[in-house]
Amino acid sequence: MKFTFLAPAVASAIVALGGPAAAQTEIKIGYALAPDSHYGVAAQKFEEVVLAETGDQFTFTHFPSSGLGGEREVIEGLQLGTVEATIVSSGTLANFAPDTGVFDIPFLFRDLAHARAVLDGPIGQEILAKFDDVGLHGLAWGEQGFRHITNNRNAIETPADVQGLKIRTMENPVHLTAFNAMGAAPTPMAWPEVVSSLQQGVIDGQENPLSVIVSVKLDEVQEYLTLSGHVYSPAMLLVSKPFWEGLDASQKAIFETAATQAVAAMRGFVDNVETTGVETLKERGMKVNAISAEEKAKFQEAIASAYEEYYETYGQELVESIVNFE
Ligand code: PAF
Repeated sequence: MKFTFLAPAVASAIVALGGPAAAQTEIKIGYALAPDSHYGVAAQKFEEVVLAETGDQFTFTHFPSSGLGGEREVIEGLQLGTVEATIVSSGTLANFAPDTGVFDIPFLFRDLAHARAVLDGPIGQEILAKFDDVGLHGLAWGEQGFRHITNNRNAIETPADVQGLKIRTMENPVHLTAFNAMGAAPTPMAWPEVVSSLQQGVIDGQENPLSVIVSVKLDEVQEYLTLSGHVYSPAMLLVSKPFWEGLDASQKAIFETAATQAVAAMRGFVDNVETTGVETLKERGMKVNAISAEEKAKFQEAIASAYEEYYETYGQELVESIVNFE
Protein backbone atom coordinates (compact mmCIF):
# COMPACT_ATOMS: atom_id res chain seq x y z
CA MET A 1 0.00 0.00 0.00
CA LYS A 2 2.73 2.37 1.05
CA PHE A 3 4.63 1.75 -2.16
CA THR A 4 1.63 2.26 -4.44
CA PHE A 5 0.88 5.47 -2.57
CA LEU A 6 4.42 6.87 -2.77
CA ALA A 7 5.24 5.95 -6.33
CA PRO A 8 2.96 8.51 -8.06
CA ALA A 9 4.26 11.24 -5.73
CA VAL A 10 7.84 10.43 -6.62
CA ALA A 11 6.93 10.25 -10.29
CA SER A 12 5.31 13.69 -10.23
CA ALA A 13 8.31 15.16 -8.40
CA ILE A 14 10.57 13.81 -11.15
CA VAL A 15 8.31 15.23 -13.84
CA ALA A 16 8.36 18.61 -12.03
CA LEU A 17 12.15 18.52 -12.20
CA GLY A 18 12.05 18.01 -15.95
CA GLY A 19 11.88 14.22 -16.32
CA PRO A 20 14.23 11.39 -15.37
CA ALA A 21 17.88 12.30 -15.79
CA ALA A 22 19.80 10.25 -18.36
CA ALA A 23 22.73 8.38 -16.79
CA GLN A 24 25.97 10.31 -17.23
CA THR A 25 29.26 8.54 -17.81
CA GLU A 26 32.11 9.80 -15.68
CA ILE A 27 35.45 10.22 -17.42
CA LYS A 28 38.29 10.15 -14.94
CA ILE A 29 41.32 11.72 -16.61
CA GLY A 30 44.72 11.50 -14.91
CA TYR A 31 47.97 13.29 -15.75
CA ALA A 32 51.29 14.01 -14.09
CA LEU A 33 51.36 17.79 -14.26
CA ALA A 34 49.39 20.78 -12.93
CA PRO A 35 46.15 22.14 -14.43
CA ASP A 36 48.04 25.14 -15.86
CA SER A 37 50.59 22.94 -17.69
CA HIS A 38 50.48 21.75 -21.31
CA TYR A 39 48.76 18.55 -20.06
CA GLY A 40 46.19 20.48 -18.04
CA VAL A 41 45.40 22.77 -20.96
CA ALA A 42 44.94 19.78 -23.29
CA ALA A 43 42.74 17.91 -20.79
CA GLN A 44 40.53 20.97 -20.35
CA LYS A 45 40.20 21.43 -24.12
CA PHE A 46 39.33 17.73 -24.47
CA GLU A 47 36.57 18.09 -21.86
CA GLU A 48 35.30 21.34 -23.36
CA VAL A 49 34.84 19.86 -26.84
CA VAL A 50 33.31 16.59 -25.63
CA LEU A 51 30.82 18.41 -23.38
CA ALA A 52 29.95 20.97 -26.06
CA GLU A 53 29.21 18.23 -28.60
CA THR A 54 27.50 15.64 -26.41
CA GLY A 55 25.40 17.74 -24.02
CA ASP A 56 25.12 16.03 -20.65
CA GLN A 57 26.14 12.49 -21.60
CA PHE A 58 29.55 12.71 -19.86
CA THR A 59 31.12 14.30 -16.81
CA PHE A 60 34.86 14.80 -16.34
CA THR A 61 36.85 14.42 -13.15
CA HIS A 62 40.47 15.58 -13.47
CA PHE A 63 43.33 14.06 -11.47
CA PRO A 64 46.28 16.38 -12.23
CA SER A 65 49.74 16.32 -10.59
CA SER A 66 49.99 12.50 -10.51
CA GLY A 67 46.77 12.34 -8.44
CA LEU A 68 46.27 8.75 -9.66
CA GLY A 69 49.92 7.73 -9.25
CA GLY A 70 52.78 7.36 -11.72
CA GLU A 71 52.17 7.17 -15.48
CA ARG A 72 52.62 3.40 -15.61
CA GLU A 73 49.99 2.88 -12.87
CA VAL A 74 47.53 5.18 -14.63
CA ILE A 75 47.93 3.30 -17.93
CA GLU A 76 47.37 0.03 -16.07
CA GLY A 77 44.19 1.59 -14.63
CA LEU A 78 43.05 2.26 -18.21
CA GLN A 79 43.64 -1.38 -19.11
CA LEU A 80 41.62 -2.49 -16.09
CA GLY A 81 38.84 -0.01 -16.95
CA THR A 82 39.11 1.85 -13.61
CA VAL A 83 40.36 5.04 -15.33
CA GLU A 84 38.96 6.27 -18.64
CA ALA A 85 41.59 8.65 -20.01
CA THR A 86 45.10 9.97 -19.56
CA ILE A 87 47.71 12.21 -21.09
CA VAL A 88 51.16 10.68 -20.69
CA SER A 89 54.73 11.05 -21.84
CA SER A 90 56.43 8.26 -23.77
CA GLY A 91 58.17 7.29 -20.50
CA THR A 92 56.52 3.93 -20.05
CA LEU A 93 54.56 3.62 -23.31
CA ALA A 94 57.07 1.18 -24.81
CA ASN A 95 56.24 -1.24 -21.99
CA PHE A 96 52.75 -1.45 -23.48
CA ALA A 97 53.41 -1.04 -27.21
CA PRO A 98 57.16 -1.68 -27.74
CA ASP A 99 57.38 -0.01 -31.17
CA THR A 100 56.64 3.35 -29.53
CA GLY A 101 60.22 3.36 -28.22
CA VAL A 102 61.55 4.30 -31.65
CA PHE A 103 60.41 7.90 -31.07
CA ASP A 104 62.52 8.06 -27.88
CA ILE A 105 65.79 7.72 -29.78
CA PRO A 106 68.02 10.73 -29.10
CA PHE A 107 68.82 13.15 -31.95
CA LEU A 108 66.13 11.54 -34.14
CA PHE A 109 64.09 14.63 -34.94
CA ARG A 110 65.46 17.91 -36.37
CA ASP A 111 62.81 20.13 -34.81
CA LEU A 112 59.20 20.21 -33.58
CA ALA A 113 57.79 20.45 -37.11
CA HIS A 114 59.68 17.30 -38.14
CA ALA A 115 58.45 15.38 -35.07
CA ARG A 116 54.85 16.50 -35.52
CA ALA A 117 54.88 15.52 -39.20
CA VAL A 118 56.17 12.03 -38.40
CA LEU A 119 53.74 11.44 -35.52
CA ASP A 120 50.72 12.69 -37.47
CA GLY A 121 51.85 10.84 -40.61
CA PRO A 122 51.70 7.14 -41.50
CA ILE A 123 54.56 6.01 -39.21
CA GLY A 124 53.11 7.68 -36.11
CA GLN A 125 49.56 6.60 -36.85
CA GLU A 126 50.54 2.98 -37.44
CA ILE A 127 52.26 2.90 -34.04
CA LEU A 128 49.32 4.70 -32.37
CA ALA A 129 47.00 1.93 -33.61
CA LYS A 130 49.08 -0.70 -31.78
CA PHE A 131 47.60 0.37 -28.43
CA ASP A 132 44.33 -1.29 -29.47
CA ASP A 133 46.02 -4.68 -29.08
CA VAL A 134 46.79 -4.06 -25.39
CA GLY A 135 43.53 -2.87 -23.84
CA LEU A 136 44.08 0.79 -24.74
CA HIS A 137 43.11 3.18 -27.51
CA GLY A 138 45.52 5.92 -28.61
CA LEU A 139 43.51 8.96 -29.66
CA ALA A 140 46.32 11.29 -30.69
CA TRP A 141 49.97 12.15 -30.27
CA GLY A 142 50.71 15.27 -28.28
CA GLU A 143 54.09 16.52 -27.14
CA GLN A 144 56.15 18.13 -24.41
CA GLY A 145 59.01 19.60 -26.48
CA PHE A 146 62.70 18.67 -26.56
CA ARG A 147 64.23 17.39 -23.34
CA HIS A 148 67.07 19.26 -21.63
CA ILE A 149 69.31 18.33 -18.70
CA THR A 150 69.07 20.05 -15.31
CA ASN A 151 71.37 19.25 -12.40
CA ASN A 152 73.04 20.51 -9.25
CA ARG A 153 76.61 19.37 -9.96
CA ASN A 154 77.99 21.37 -12.87
CA ALA A 155 77.13 23.10 -16.13
CA ILE A 156 77.23 20.63 -19.01
CA GLU A 157 79.23 21.82 -22.00
CA THR A 158 80.83 18.61 -23.26
CA PRO A 159 80.19 14.85 -22.94
CA ALA A 160 82.91 14.79 -20.23
CA ASP A 161 80.62 16.90 -18.03
CA VAL A 162 78.01 14.14 -17.76
CA GLN A 163 80.50 11.47 -16.65
CA GLY A 164 79.14 9.81 -13.50
CA LEU A 165 76.24 12.26 -13.25
CA LYS A 166 73.46 10.69 -11.19
CA ILE A 167 70.65 11.53 -13.54
CA ARG A 168 67.06 10.40 -13.25
CA THR A 169 65.68 9.05 -16.50
CA MET A 170 62.16 7.94 -17.27
CA GLU A 171 61.58 4.19 -16.94
CA ASN A 172 62.47 3.96 -20.58
CA PRO A 173 65.13 1.57 -21.91
CA VAL A 174 65.94 3.77 -24.93
CA HIS A 175 66.84 6.73 -22.69
CA LEU A 176 68.68 4.49 -20.27
CA THR A 177 70.85 3.06 -23.06
CA ALA A 178 71.74 6.56 -24.27
CA PHE A 179 72.77 7.89 -20.85
CA ASN A 180 74.79 4.76 -20.14
CA ALA A 181 76.57 5.21 -23.47
CA MET A 182 77.38 8.82 -22.49
CA GLY A 183 79.03 7.61 -19.28
CA ALA A 184 76.41 9.05 -16.93
CA ALA A 185 74.98 7.09 -13.99
CA PRO A 186 71.30 6.99 -14.95
CA THR A 187 68.59 5.99 -12.45
CA PRO A 188 65.18 5.18 -13.92
CA MET A 189 62.50 6.51 -11.60
CA ALA A 190 58.76 7.16 -11.68
CA TRP A 191 57.97 10.86 -11.84
CA PRO A 192 56.21 11.25 -8.47
CA GLU A 193 59.52 10.46 -6.70
CA VAL A 194 61.70 12.85 -8.69
CA VAL A 195 61.36 16.21 -6.92
CA SER A 196 61.94 14.76 -3.44
CA SER A 197 64.91 12.73 -4.75
CA LEU A 198 66.44 15.93 -6.14
CA GLN A 199 65.79 17.75 -2.87
CA GLN A 200 67.41 14.98 -0.86
CA GLY A 201 70.40 14.72 -3.23
CA VAL A 202 69.65 11.08 -4.08
CA ILE A 203 70.13 12.14 -7.70
CA ASP A 204 72.09 15.11 -9.15
CA GLY A 205 69.77 15.86 -12.00
CA GLN A 206 66.99 14.94 -14.36
CA GLU A 207 65.99 15.75 -17.92
CA ASN A 208 62.70 17.14 -19.18
CA PRO A 209 61.43 19.74 -21.64
CA LEU A 210 61.02 23.43 -20.76
CA SER A 211 57.25 22.85 -20.49
CA VAL A 212 57.86 20.59 -17.48
CA ILE A 213 60.82 22.47 -15.97
CA VAL A 214 58.81 25.72 -15.92
CA SER A 215 55.52 24.21 -14.79
CA VAL A 216 56.99 22.10 -11.97
CA LYS A 217 59.33 24.96 -10.93
CA LEU A 218 62.33 22.67 -11.06
CA ASP A 219 64.43 25.84 -10.65
CA GLU A 220 63.60 25.55 -6.93
CA VAL A 221 65.58 22.31 -6.69
CA GLN A 222 68.03 22.56 -9.61
CA GLU A 223 70.85 25.02 -10.26
CA TYR A 224 71.97 24.31 -13.84
CA LEU A 225 69.95 24.00 -17.01
CA THR A 226 71.75 22.82 -20.13
CA LEU A 227 69.84 23.24 -23.35
CA SER A 228 70.87 19.84 -24.63
CA GLY A 229 67.70 19.15 -26.64
CA HIS A 230 69.01 15.60 -26.75
CA VAL A 231 65.66 13.97 -27.43
CA TYR A 232 62.13 14.89 -28.46
CA SER A 233 59.46 14.07 -25.90
CA PRO A 234 56.19 12.85 -27.38
CA ALA A 235 53.01 12.62 -25.32
CA MET A 236 49.81 10.71 -25.97
CA LEU A 237 46.12 11.12 -25.27
CA LEU A 238 45.04 7.59 -24.43
CA VAL A 239 41.69 6.13 -23.43
CA SER A 240 40.71 2.81 -21.95
CA LYS A 241 39.72 0.23 -24.56
CA PRO A 242 36.69 -1.00 -22.55
CA PHE A 243 35.53 2.63 -22.33
CA TRP A 244 36.18 3.22 -26.05
CA GLU A 245 34.26 0.12 -27.05
CA GLY A 246 31.27 1.31 -25.05
CA LEU A 247 30.93 4.44 -27.22
CA ASP A 248 28.74 4.55 -30.32
CA ALA A 249 30.09 5.71 -33.69
CA SER A 250 28.97 9.33 -33.32
CA GLN A 251 30.44 9.59 -29.82
CA LYS A 252 33.73 8.14 -31.10
CA ALA A 253 33.83 10.77 -33.85
CA ILE A 254 33.32 13.50 -31.23
CA PHE A 255 36.11 12.12 -29.04
CA GLU A 256 38.44 12.04 -32.04
CA THR A 257 37.69 15.68 -32.85
CA ALA A 258 38.13 16.61 -29.19
CA ALA A 259 41.50 14.82 -29.10
CA THR A 260 42.70 16.65 -32.22
CA GLN A 261 41.79 19.98 -30.63
CA ALA A 262 43.32 18.97 -27.30
CA VAL A 263 46.71 18.14 -28.83
CA ALA A 264 46.60 21.32 -30.93
CA ALA A 265 46.17 23.24 -27.65
CA MET A 266 49.05 21.24 -26.11
CA ARG A 267 51.34 21.98 -29.06
CA GLY A 268 50.38 25.68 -28.97
CA PHE A 269 51.31 25.76 -25.28
CA VAL A 270 54.65 24.05 -26.02
CA ASP A 271 55.40 26.52 -28.87
CA ASN A 272 54.92 29.34 -26.38
CA VAL A 273 57.03 27.89 -23.58
CA GLU A 274 59.80 26.96 -26.04
CA THR A 275 60.19 30.67 -26.79
CA THR A 276 59.61 32.12 -23.30
CA GLY A 277 60.77 29.31 -20.97
CA VAL A 278 64.52 30.01 -20.95
CA GLU A 279 63.98 33.66 -19.97
CA THR A 280 61.53 32.63 -17.22
CA LEU A 281 64.01 30.14 -15.77
CA LYS A 282 66.89 32.66 -15.92
CA GLU A 283 64.72 35.17 -14.08
CA ARG A 284 64.04 32.53 -11.45
CA GLY A 285 67.80 32.17 -10.96
CA MET A 286 68.80 29.12 -13.01
CA LYS A 287 72.24 29.09 -14.65
CA VAL A 288 71.43 28.32 -18.26
CA ASN A 289 73.85 27.32 -21.01
CA ALA A 290 73.45 26.12 -24.58
CA ILE A 291 75.50 23.40 -26.25
CA SER A 292 77.43 24.42 -29.35
CA ALA A 293 76.81 22.56 -32.62
CA GLU A 294 80.36 21.18 -32.37
CA GLU A 295 79.79 19.76 -28.87
CA LYS A 296 76.37 18.43 -29.89
CA ALA A 297 78.12 16.39 -32.58
CA LYS A 298 80.37 14.96 -29.86
CA PHE A 299 77.32 13.92 -27.82
CA GLN A 300 76.01 12.20 -30.94
CA GLU A 301 79.34 10.41 -31.35
CA ALA A 302 79.25 9.39 -27.68
CA ILE A 303 76.01 7.49 -28.21
CA ALA A 304 77.06 5.74 -31.43
CA SER A 305 77.04 2.38 -29.59
CA ALA A 306 73.47 3.06 -28.42
CA TYR A 307 72.46 3.60 -32.06
CA GLU A 308 73.71 0.09 -32.89
CA GLU A 309 71.30 -1.20 -30.25
CA TYR A 310 68.43 0.94 -31.57
CA TYR A 311 68.98 -0.37 -35.11
CA GLU A 312 68.82 -3.90 -33.79
CA THR A 313 65.61 -3.26 -31.86
CA TYR A 314 63.68 -1.09 -34.31
CA GLY A 315 65.39 -1.75 -37.65
CA GLN A 316 67.80 0.68 -39.29
CA GLU A 317 65.34 1.19 -42.15
CA LEU A 318 62.59 2.49 -39.85
CA VAL A 319 64.98 4.74 -37.93
CA GLU A 320 66.35 6.19 -41.18
CA SER A 321 62.91 6.64 -42.67
CA ILE A 322 62.01 8.77 -39.64
CA VAL A 323 65.25 10.77 -39.85
CA ASN A 324 64.71 11.40 -43.55
CA PHE A 325 60.96 12.08 -43.34
CA GLU A 326 60.09 15.38 -45.06
O1 PAF B 1 59.83 12.88 -16.98
C1 PAF B 1 58.71 12.36 -17.01
O2 PAF B 1 58.45 11.32 -16.39
C2 PAF B 1 57.64 13.01 -17.85
O3 PAF B 1 58.18 13.85 -18.79
C3 PAF B 1 56.58 13.75 -16.99
C4 PAF B 1 57.19 14.90 -16.24
C5 PAF B 1 55.93 12.80 -16.00
C6 PAF B 1 55.48 14.30 -17.87
O4 PAF B 1 54.81 13.30 -18.55
